Amino acid sequence: MVLVYTLYDNNEKVLLKANRKLTQNYINRIQQMDIMGLYVFEDDEIEEHTPIVSEQTRLKAIKSLKRLNIDDCIYIANNIVEEIRESDSMIVETINLSTYDNYTYSHSVNVDMLSVILGVACGLRDDELRKLSQAALLHDIGKTCVPIEIINKPGRLTEEEYAEVKNHPRYGYNMLRDNYEVSSVARNAILSHHENEDGSGYPRGLTSEKIHLFAKIIHVADVYDALTTKRVYKEAMNPADALEYLMGNAERMFDKDLVATFMEYVAPYPLGVQVELSTGQKAIVVKNNRSMLSRPVVRLDSGTRVDLLERLDITIVKMLTDFN
Ligand SMILES: [Fe+2]
Repeated sequence: MVLVYTLYDNNEKVLLKANRKLTQNYINRIQQMDIMGLYVFEDDEIEEHTPIVSEQTRLKAIKSLKRLNIDDCIYIANNIVEEIRESDSMIVETINLSTYDNYTYSHSVNVDMLSVILGVACGLRDDELRKLSQAALLHDIGKTCVPIEIINKPGRLTEEEYAEVKNHPRYGYNMLRDNYEVSSVARNAILSHHENEDGSGYPRGLTSEKIHLFAKIIHVADVYDALTTKRVYKEAMNPADALEYLMGNAERMFDKDLVATFMEYVAPYPLGVQVELSTGQKAIVVKNNRSMLSRPVVRLDSGTRVDLLERLDITIVKMLTDFN
């Protein structure tokens, strides 16, 4: 097995570098630690994977968010745009593995990455992408003003508590008011990232035409990442179901065209997941077809590779990998 992403401990110290073969010795040591899960590919099966946003940048972003260092966050948000611009592929095709510990921070980085990809796909200019990236990275910064007991509450929130959570876009907007490095467009996007197309969102209940494109983009990215992440109070949804949820709620919550574009860049069947085919066979996803992400190349238990783009008579009926 090969480790896909670099493994860090709680103090952000590197434990094991990406692309490293996992020997029994490493596995034994990892098992003694309090680690939720590892992302591994089985050897020789899947091509080496380079993350769209480098682990170093991800780590720097998490640190800056933790320290509430807005200037550093802006700098890193700009770096993230550059990295995505320079990446060979903007296809998101690995499983989202956030730990409970740093959920808020790694969620913000994921939302940033997904938002910038969507922004590039929409044809935004670099200066616009930088503003979008700043807003996406800082979209939940206002949660630092909400009492921590409410944020971390595992059970259902009372009406009052929920009302307080719903203030976080406004808190974020206000927090950044005096920082001239943050553009007003970015601040407005932060204020509106929970607005829905039909006016049922918060804090202002804006309808489609009043919601800025950046806020609409962050909304899609935010919900997708939240759905696919396991939390104390809920299981993780698999990517195919989460994409289906987005499309099912397009027009009510999300901009339909944005969701359609999003689906061209986020793989419903990430690399390494096990699926059941309509033939009754089990298979592993080994490659994604960029032109149609819903039809990947899979490898059967027998070792035979099947390109589902060429075998349209075979369909994926079920995801067998447990995402929790
Ligand atoms: Fe939020």
